[in-house]
Amino acid sequence: MYEEAVELAKRRGFFWPSFSIYGGFAGFYDYGPLGVLLKDNIVKIWKEAYMDDDAIFLDSPNVTPEPVFRASGHLARFSDLAAECDHCHSKFKLESVLSFNKIKYIPSSLKEAEDLVADNNLKCPVCGNIIKKVYDFNLMYRVSGDYYLRPETAQGIFVNFKLLSNYNRGKIPMIVGQQGKGYRNEISPRQSLIRLREFNQCEIEVFLDPEHLEFRELYDFKKIRMKPNTGEELNISIREAYNKGIISNQAFAYFVLKTQVILERIGISNEKLRFRQHEPDERAHYAADSWDAEGLIDDEWFEIVGIANRTDFDLKNHEQSSGEQMRIKIDGRDVMPYVIEPSYGIDRILLTLISQSMENKDGKNVLRIPYYMAPYHMAVFPLMKKDNLKERASEIYSKLKNLDKYILYDESGTIGKRYARQDEVGTPFCITVDYQTLEDNTVTLRNRDTAEQERINIDDLLHDNFIKNLLEK
Ligand code: GLY
Repeated sequence: MYEEAVELAKRRGFFWPSFSIYGGFAGFYDYGPLGVLLKDNIVKIWKEAYMDDDAIFLDSPNVTPEPVFRASGHLARFSDLAAECDHCHSKFKLESVLSFNKIKYIPSSLKEAEDLVADNNLKCPVCGNIIKKVYDFNLMYRVSGDYYLRPETAQGIFVNFKLLSNYNRGKIPMIVGQQGKGYRNEISPRQSLIRLREFNQCEIEVFLDPEHLEFRELYDFKKIRMKPNTGEELNISIREAYNKGIISNQAFAYFVLKTQVILERIGISNEKLRFRQHEPDERAHYAADSWDAEGLIDDEWFEIVGIANRTDFDLKNHEQSSGEQMRIKIDGRDVMPYVIEPSYGIDRILLTLISQSMENKDGKNVLRIPYYMAPYHMAVFPLMKKDNLKERASEIYSKLKNLDKYILYDESGTIGKRYARQDEVGTPFCITVDYQTLEDNTVTLRNRDTAEQERINIDDLLHDNFIKNLLEK
C-alpha cells in the first residue's frame, strides 16, 4: 500500500514534498497537520517506554564542530561509494548502478570499486552510456567553515557523557535519549520518507559496564522473524534467541526485545516486522554488531530501527581527541563504558505504520492504527446545522476538549462523507448529535473499525476516564 499511503498522506495532510511551489527538492518532506500529531504520538510512545527504564534525555545542537566528527570517525568513514556519468552527469549510489547492471557483488573499498568499474562496462541507468567515474562521497552536510550538520543525534550524547554521568550520580547502566533531526547528503534520496536528507531520529544510548553487559530480565513476548548473518531466518522469541546464542549479549537482547514491544505498541504489525543482523561488511564504522528492525511495506523490507553494539568506540575516541577523561569509577575500577544504541527512524516508522494500516474496503479507505495513535481521537458532528443541533454539538465539543485535546469538530457535507473522512485518517470514534439528543441527552458513538453505532448518554461520555478507556481498547 506504499503508493496509496503516499497519495493519502499528501491529500489528507500527513506529509508531502517540501518546497513544491519551487518544483520540489529531492529528500525533503514536510509534515502536515495530521502528520505532526501522528509523529508526536510515535515519539511519545518511544519516550515513555524508555522512561519506564529510567532514561534521561538531552537536546544538543544540530550544527556540530568538525573535531567531534573527526573523533567519531564520520569525517573519514561516513561515506557511500558513488558513481557519476560523464555523459549526462547523473550521480548515483554505486549500489544502484550495480543493481541496474545486474551485478550482485558490492565492493567494500574505493580500490575494489574502481577495479570493478574498469573491468565491466557498467551502463548509466539514465542515459545508457558507460560509467567511468567512481568516488567516495561523504554524507555529511558542511554548513560553513568547520561546522557540519549532525548525521546522527548520538554524538551530542557522547560528547556530554561526563556531564550526564555526573547528573546521574555515576549510576550505570545509564540510558540517555535524544530526539531530533539528523542530516545526510544522500546521493539518491528515494521513496518519500524512506531516504531523506533531513530526518527525525529518536536515539537511545545505553551505557554499560563492559564486565556486565546485562540489563533487566528478558521476558516472553511474541515470536518474531530473526535473520542472523550466519544462518537461516528463524521464527523465535527474543528470549529464545538470546538463550540460543543468536544475540551475543543479554543487554543487547533486552533492547531488541524492547524495540519489538515499542513497535508493536506503535502499531507496526508483528507479522510485518523482522530483525536482521548486519553482515560484517555492512556495519557502520563504529559497530561491532548490528541488528535492524525492518518493516515490510508491500514486498520490500526497510530498516526502521537500527540497534548497534558501539562498544567503547565513541567514548574512547572522544577521550583521545578532546583530552577529557571519559572513564568512570565502578567499584574502584576505572571503566570506559560500553554502548548499545537502539536508533529509531521516526519518518520510516510513520510511513510503515500508515502503509501497513491502510485498508481499502468497497472503495473506502480506513486507517486502522491503534486508537491512541490517531491524530484525532474523536470527531463531533451535528447531524444537521439547523434546529439547535449545531449549538448542542458545539457545546459537547467544547466539553470534550476539556477532557482530551485531540477532538475535532466537523459540520460540512453529508454525515456519510464525514464518517468516511475520519475513517481515512484513523479517527477511531465519531459522535453524532441528532434529534434524539435534544430529547434524551444521548448521542451516537460510532466505531471506525466496525462502523457500528451505539447510543450513549452525554454524561457518561463526559466522564473522566471514558475516552481514555475507549482509546486503550
Ligand atoms: N546513530 C545511528 C545512525 O544514525 O545511523
